[in-house]
Amino acid sequence: MNILVLNGPNLNMLGIREPGIYGSSTYADLLALIEETADRLGVHAECYQSNHEGDLVDKIQWAYGRIDGIVINPAAYTHTSVAILDALKAVSIPAVEVHISDVDSREAFRQISYAGLACEKTIKGHGFAGYREAMEYLVSAYGH
Ligand code: DQA
Repeated sequence: MNILVLNGPNLNMLGIREPGIYGSSTYADLLALIEETADRLGVHAECYQSNHEGDLVDKIQWAYGRIDGIVINPAAYTHTSVAILDALKAVSIPAVEVHISDVDSREAFRQISYAGLACEKTIKGHGFAGYREAMEYLVSAYGH
């Protein structure tokens, strides 16, 4: 099984950006956790981060025919991007939305998720563990 783990803008700054909200672990630490999880579950994880909306759309389109499940943290584009929503709908690959922070308890503008409308499940506020939970869900639901 091939899982694509997509991260949006500013997630490359994990460990530096607002550690009170996102913690002190880095994006490299997150990649290590995803690799460990993929090894344990016996799947391949392709990781991609971009600060650019169109690059994330391109990567979702690239996934068509190649990827069996998507874990996506669209970061700020969660709350604005119809393009990412449409790309997820276009490829119809099972997807899980992850947010490191508990967006429900933050500003009102973070309460809307466009990408989430195309996702089977949303995991929020579990820190980096949310990515592991999303991968476990995809493997249990679609693994072969
Ligand atoms: C985030 C929450 C978003 O509102 C924010 O813009 C991010 C990160 C999270 O993982 O908690 O960049 O997606």
